[in-house]
Amino acid sequence: MNSGEIREKFLKFFKERGHVIVPSSSLIPDDPSVLLTTAGMQQFKPYFSGKADPTRDFGSKNTVSAQKCFRTSDIDEVGDESHLTFFEMLGNFSFGGYSKEQAIKYAYELLREYGLKIQYVTIFEGDDVVPKDEQSHGIWQQLGITDIREQPKSENFWGPTGSEGPCGSTTEIFVNDIEIWNIVFNEYYCLPAAAGTAQAGKSDGSLEKLKTPGVDTGMGLERLVMVLQGKKHVFETDLFAPLVAEMPEVMDERTKRIFADHARAIAFLISDGVRPSNKEAGYVLRRIMRRVIVQSELAGAGSFSGEDILGLGGGLDIIKVLQKVIARYGDFYPELKKNSGFVVEVFKQENEKFQKTLRNGLKELSRIDGVSAKDAFRLYESFGLPYEVIKEVAGKKAKNLNREDFEKEFEKHKEKSREGQFAKFGGHGLLLDTGELKARDEVEVKIVTRLHTATHLVQAALREVLGPAVKQAGSDITAERARFDFSYDRKLEDDEIKKVEDWVNDKIRRKLDVKFEEIPYKDAVKTGALYFEKEKYPATVKVYSVTDENGNAVSKELCGGPHVQNTGEMGTFKITKQESVGAGIRRIRAVLQ
Ligand code: SER
Repeated sequence: MNSGEIREKFLKFFKERGHVIVPSSSLIPDDPSVLLTTAGMQQFKPYFSGKADPTRDFGSKNTVSAQKCFRTSDIDEVGDESHLTFFEMLGNFSFGGYSKEQAIKYAYELLREYGLKIQYVTIFEGDDVVPKDEQSHGIWQQLGITDIREQPKSENFWGPTGSEGPCGSTTEIFVNDIEIWNIVFNEYYCLPAAAGTAQAGKSDGSLEKLKTPGVDTGMGLERLVMVLQGKKHVFETDLFAPLVAEMPEVMDERTKRIFADHARAIAFLISDGVRPSNKEAGYVLRRIMRRVIVQSELAGAGSFSGEDILGLGGGLDIIKVLQKVIARYGDFYPELKKNSGFVVEVFKQENEKFQKTLRNGLKELSRIDGVSAKDAFRLYESFGLPYEVIKEVAGKKAKNLNREDFEKEFEKHKEKSREGQFAKFGGHGLLLDTGELKARDEVEVKIVTRLHTATHLVQAALREVLGPAVKQAGSDITAERARFDFSYDRKLEDDEIKKVEDWVNDKIRRKLDVKFEEIPYKDAVKTGALYFEKEKYPATVKVYSVTDENGNAVSKELCGGPHVQNTGEMGTFKITKQESVGAGIRRIRAVLQ
């Protein structure tokens, strides 16, 4: 079977069993808690939680889809045999329509129809909050599966990471040592404190039983096709082979895979309306575009010297590969065909922009004798020249340059930089790192962004409650918590903490707008906006304000961002700890629940 037939078979199997085929939703989700669509169930969240009625909207309690998904957490892994950024997820869903038993039996039956033999399955072993999934165990046994492995919550419990949503224990099906299908029994609603696959359902009372338990299954099309077509890895399947065939012979295997993966991702992201930029989804797109542009230049082997260095001539015609993607996937995803003009145009524009930067970077590089880690980092930071390019192009001149020293420069810079900017172009590491905010993936970006706005509000609240002696002395934000240091000479009383929390939560409840303007530094400080005294600011700065119903600022600070657009996106603010960190400096930690 070719991949198209495999996809069709899945949809048809469930259609014949009372499911309604729902088209894939966009890669840009409606759900503000995620940056890009990462699972088939996302468009169905309101049906699981009972906020929307599936019978009214679909005419059935059961649906099936092939969903476009994108997972940024794997970007740096792409190039090996299995990791992908963009992929298609096949899934069947039930919002109170059928039972666990039916869900497992469907999976069993369909895999048999595909001609696959289940090697083993896993089930949830239980903990002090959610009991062991005895029922799934029994059902699998009945079906003749003998290898049933019990696993902890970190493996067999699915829920949203860092935000709220339906969750529950899972049973996973393995074929040829590959996890092929994940079946989630959504019995609970996880609140943010418990969210995150690993911690979901901790005994902090943040799990609520759903009124109608649901079924959410996910099977990556690429893996299924790989197994069915008997290929060693996904890039050999007919989903990728025609793309890989476009790559020049000289290109190494890993680069070919990166290209094939990124070309699909670029085409689908642009066709769904993402545009390259320096934030959020736009940044993800820019990062993968720049990576393929650089790789394409490198594939022009040896052409990195002299003046004609950066014509695409020597390398790979990326646009041709993008057109292949459109032709290959355009029948099933018609939006690709419809938006093919955008795909090409947006790529061309970004390419032009980046080529200019690269060219300047290479000129600069040619002026340096003996490239040090510091030089390399500067070239990277100012021109986006990746480490590999510098090493390759500079040849002997960079013989003392090694990745470890380069990374060290990076670390040093991260500590210094407090400017709100996405500083990575495609190496390894954090997705967002402003020095103050740190996030490893798109979900964490959302969380730290909310906490960042909370930090502004807390500074305003502290000044309101304790007086203007309070001044920021430091701030550090991760997906787990915000940490804020400020000048004040004594411990805060419980009722003061409560007042601060109430002040912040009042602003959140009122759903106030958060806006920024860019103005010269001299003018900015005159507006009375707060700023961090230890910080060196550029000539033009951003001033972020949270404004009340009458347009008056309740918080105003010089800041690089990013921030939420409205405080209504933030949840409930809570101070979890206070301590002293030196003479006259207090530290608080806070979370949004
Ligand atoms: N939501 C689950 C997953 O993404 C099953 O669809 O794996």
